[in-house]
Amino acid sequence: MKQEDRETVAPSNCDTCGDKSCSASQRKEDESAEEFEDRKKLQSRLCRIRHKVVVLSGKGGVGKSTVAVNLAAALTLAGKRVGLLDVDIHGPSVPTMLGLERVELQGCGDGLLPIETGGMKVMSLGFLLKNPDDAVIWRGPLKMGVIKQFLKDVVWGDLDFLIIDSPPGTGDEPLSVCQLIGTLDGAVVVTTPQKVAAVDVRKSITFCRQLHVPVIGVVENMSGFVCPNCGEVTLILRAGGGKEIAEDMGVPFLGSIPMDPMIADACDTGRMFIDDDAAAPSAKIMHGIAGSVAALEEKDTVRETA
Ligand SMILES: Nc1ncnc2c1ncn2[C@@H]1O[C@H](COP(=O)(O)OP(=O)(O)O)[C@@H](O)[C@H]1O
Ligand code: SF4
Ligand SMILES: [Mg+2]
Repeated sequence: MKQEDRETVAPSNCDTCGDKSCSASQRKEDESAEEFEDRKKLQSRLCRIRHKVVVLSGKGGVGKSTVAVNLAAALTLAGKRVGLLDVDIHGPSVPTMLGLERVELQGCGDGLLPIETGGMKVMSLGFLLKNPDDAVIWRGPLKMGVIKQFLKDVVWGDLDFLIIDSPPGTGDEPLSVCQLIGTLDGAVVVTTPQKVAAVDVRKSITFCRQLHVPVIGVVENMSGFVCPNCGEVTLILRAGGGKEIAEDMGVPFLGSIPMDPMIADACDTGRMFIDDDAAAPSAKIMHGIAGSVAALEEKDTVRETA
């Protein structure tokens, strides 16, 4: 069934949808009735989202959330219906980056309603954690259970893009997120320029390949420092590592974002950098990266007219 048809029919219930080609229309042999109900609930939410894009990084602190937030904001500014899902159980930083630390989530009977801000819908595990340190002490299976429940409960409605800020690394947590989401349209891998980060990028790309998630490309963040006075970029770390590794692994390179005090300030004060500081060169670079993600829609057009 085409996405447009799904949207006009707006099925939120697999039992009345009638799409027999969908894997949610039938219970799997090894699945309990409860597991099947859970899967239908999750899939019936996700089938109303045209493109699901995960933002990955080999380790924390490289700017994954910064890229995810600005990517979602850029797509929103381009007129797309966008959701931003922060499922980084170790450091859900999206609420701080968007100035949403004190929001109270509302339920609607059918699940949890995302927070609407700047034209996009936002949901973060951080909204559920009373104490940000809580998640750190959760044991493996509990973490997975929380992630699963969370994905199942969020009422997104119809979206063009869902940008997912995943837990860092290539371990069980990002793996669970990718497996639960099911069909991901692509991954953006964020890294820093140092040579030591190359190992992590390789792992992230291999991770995507094993899960059959197309790599949209690699972003090199914190590449040089933008002087707040004159705007000149000084290379502190050796730049170009992201580009080299992308070429070596045969995936696109999406761009280098310099270390820019305006980005750090926007993140700390809950402002959308790409909107508030739209004229900054770093904002233009981020728009370019978002353009590569938006290009997923062109692939749809080619598929539909073929
Ligand atoms: N290009 C950049 N210039 C300046 N500060 C940045 C840049 N990218 C990220 N930061 C800052 O670095 C910190 C870590 O970024 P974050 O996106 O939270 O990383 P991650 O999600 O990978 O852990 C944040 O405080 C953020 O504001
Ligand atoms: S997941 Fe969506 S397309 Fe599939 S059966 Fe359920 S409602 Fe229909
Ligand atoms: Mg983060």
